[in-house]
Amino acid sequence: MDFEERLLDANLHMEDSGAEVSLRPHSLREYIGQTEVKESMSVYIQAALSRHDALDHILLYGPPGLGKTTLAGIIASEMGQNIKITSGPAIERPGDLASILTNLSAGDVLFIDEIHRLSHSVEEVLYPAMEDYAIDVMIGKGPTARSLRLDLPKFTLVGATTKAGNLAAPLRDRFGIIYRLQLYKPEELANIVARSAGILGVAADDDGILEIARRSRGTPRIANRMLKRVRDFAQVKGNGRITLDIAREALAMQHVDELGLDSTDRSILSTMMDKFAGGPVGLDTLAATTGEDAVTIEDVYEPYLMQLGFLMRTPRGRICTPAAWAHMQRPIPATAVAANAAFDGETQLKMEI
Ligand code: ADE
Repeated sequence: MDFEERLLDANLHMEDSGAEVSLRPHSLREYIGQTEVKESMSVYIQAALSRHDALDHILLYGPPGLGKTTLAGIIASEMGQNIKITSGPAIERPGDLASILTNLSAGDVLFIDEIHRLSHSVEEVLYPAMEDYAIDVMIGKGPTARSLRLDLPKFTLVGATTKAGNLAAPLRDRFGIIYRLQLYKPEELANIVARSAGILGVAADDDGILEIARRSRGTPRIANRMLKRVRDFAQVKGNGRITLDIAREALAMQHVDELGLDSTDRSILSTMMDKFAGGPVGLDTLAATTGEDAVTIEDVYEPYLMQLGFLMRTPRGRICTPAAWAHMQRPIPATAVAANAAFDGETQLKMEI
């Protein structure tokens, strides 16, 4: 199946944008999960509001689909300010960023998604903008060229990235607040799905909702997309109500297993098991043998496989855990037992940074 069409793809699809806007919470109170982020963000927002000041720049990082854009929107609305949304790849030249910055009003929130994809020359414009609320523009060319400093209104930059480690250190250091968003727990996702079902006007049983939540790999964007597909199934094959059986049948039709793994997750695990005896295997080798993009494996598939305890990142490469062998219903070979024993939790490489 084409990656773009996959139910489990955590990237934003065209189809999502309209419906997701209405499913998106608009206040911290409505926002479910990420409790620690919400608690501290609420303090910083109240403090900035009482000082009549802009909020410090915020970096949000974590796997795709966890609500980074949603949080940026909430920050703007809680601050009573407007948000301008753009992305790293969309800002091609320093002049593009200069024009965005000079059009901001005091207090505005500027959201830059995929901020790690800004070019170096664009980043250079961002540094004084973040630090001194000013940009330096060059007037003229050659020996008579001079630089002119333009003051900017005080704004809040909210940057989002899948991996903080991909950011240049000078850029990362200019964020006053850095949050790592975590994959959601099934109970949190169930609350999100129940809320979305209410907004969409779909009747759903609690166990049907929990089934969708359990199979959404910790990601609200996937949960909301699954909810819509299960709703379609309920409408055509049932009486419109989402029950446990309807959810199970609809998800089986999408080749999503009971833990939320899809055909690509299973292909990654079976390739590791069949071709590399469960690893260790390097990311690039794994990408070449599965035909998936290395960045996609790293950002989209591995976080969830690691959360399930199916995969470990070790200094010598990725290895499948005994739990993964059990899930794939394969007997674990003695070599794989030894490979696992060589790496305990302590030696596992950190996922981020
Ligand atoms: N929709 C998407 N993410 C959400 C969240 N964290 N809380 C509530 N609704 C959501």
